[in-house]
Amino acid sequence: MKSRSEFICQQCGYKSSSYLGKCPECGSWNSLVETEVSTETPKSKLQFPNIENSLVKLAEVKKEHSLRMSTGFSEFDRVLGGGIVPGSLVLISGDPGIGKSTLLLQSAMRIAGSQSTVHSSQTGKNKKTVNREPKTDNEHTVLYVTGEESAQQVKIRADRVGKIPPNLYILPQTSTEAIVSACEKLSPAILIVDSIQTLTSEKLAGSAGSIGQIRESAQVLQRLAKGTKTSVFVVGHVTKEGNIAGPKVLEHIVDAVLNLEGDEAYGFRILRSVKNRFGSTFEVGVFEMADSGMAEIANPSQVFLSQRIEKRAGSVVCASIAGGRPILSEVQALATSTIFGVPARRVTGLDFSRMQIVIAALAKNAGLSFANLDIYLNVAGGLRITEPAADLAAALAVVSAVLDKPVKERVCVFGEVGLLGELRTVAASKAREKEAKRLGFSDFVTPERFKTLEAAISYAIHSE
Ligand code: TYD
Ligand code: MG
Repeated sequence: MKSRSEFICQQCGYKSSSYLGKCPECGSWNSLVETEVSTETPKSKLQFPNIENSLVKLAEVKKEHSLRMSTGFSEFDRVLGGGIVPGSLVLISGDPGIGKSTLLLQSAMRIAGSQSTVHSSQTGKNKKTVNREPKTDNEHTVLYVTGEESAQQVKIRADRVGKIPPNLYILPQTSTEAIVSACEKLSPAILIVDSIQTLTSEKLAGSAGSIGQIRESAQVLQRLAKGTKTSVFVVGHVTKEGNIAGPKVLEHIVDAVLNLEGDEAYGFRILRSVKNRFGSTFEVGVFEMADSGMAEIANPSQVFLSQRIEKRAGSVVCASIAGGRPILSEVQALATSTIFGVPARRVTGLDFSRMQIVIAALAKNAGLSFANLDIYLNVAGGLRITEPAADLAAALAVVSAVLDKPVKERVCVFGEVGLLGELRTVAASKAREKEAKRLGFSDFVTPERFKTLEAAISYAIHSE
């Protein structure tokens, strides 16, 4: 029997029995979302006779000794905060074609084929693995639900990336209820759902991918994860606007959101933690999409700098921190004469509004005129640096490009640029310098050494 559903405006809470494009109460468009209505009569207070059992003093709550399971990729484990927490629900989001299915399939194959390597959540950072006798056959059973591709297609991909282990199951299915039944039968350690946008719950009439369906399916999966200790990974596509297709509400339901990023044109993929109930956010893992799937990159700085041409005007090596880990990358600038009157500013891999401020501060304090110049800024290799520490590197790259003079050799740059052209210190300078020295950069242009943009420019560019 189908339960009743109603449409609730997400803006004002107005309820309607049918879908309306515009909310009659508050006037918002497309804000009504289908929601299941419980047909059970509300329980009276007297119907919770065992409530005392749930009342526990916080101090007396026993810490579960939760052993984390490895994904088979140490980069992936690190982004998760030290491996997979049993009973967790993790969303892997990213643009179509970026490699979400490939990464999860490879992980599924490694987990299903692994020799019970489990490590404690307490030792998240140091990868101490404990070898145990498998308790049950299910300890490494993985169920991969594919709603987008056929079992055939997944098989072809699996053959391409490795050897298929025996306890990896595949289920081409889009019904949320059917997935739950399959999990009851199989009790897998890991369930992968690719993707949440293909799921439909029979409780709702809305089509797959609607906000109501996504929310309902996510809630069902969250209950499944918490109730059975199966760890669930769901794939979620990102829309053109950069949102996970479907609602923000999905982000609230899941325990962790990992975003797989990278330009399709580059082989690099960056797995970034944007929310994590079991670890630090802003952790990143670096991968490369190779012929046989995703490969981990243990030394990202070296890779990001590998194609850099030294002594080229417009190129600056920047030490940024991504997820507590310093990464060296190349910030590039290009300046060309404006043809169509209004000078263009194009920024990839850096924060656009910060770069506008940096360019304005440069114009004001370094005596350079950019009025007739189109300026392009880019971080090589598809890396994205959002922290202010990239300001100074971007500023020097612009000046170097405009003057067509390279920055001094062996120089590594980091620091925030203020509106008045003052340089501001950024966190973790020791870690940045250490990483730079490891790769042969011994000269630092930083706020610790130079107080103003002008001083940094005259050292790094004019003193050649
Ligand atoms: P996919 O995992 O299907 O992306 P998503 O699930 O995020 O949509 O990745 C598809 C792309 O990856 C496709 O363009 C082909 C490429 N690819 C490789 O380069 N090497 C490989 O080994 C595999 C399996 C895919
Ligand atoms: Mg896919």
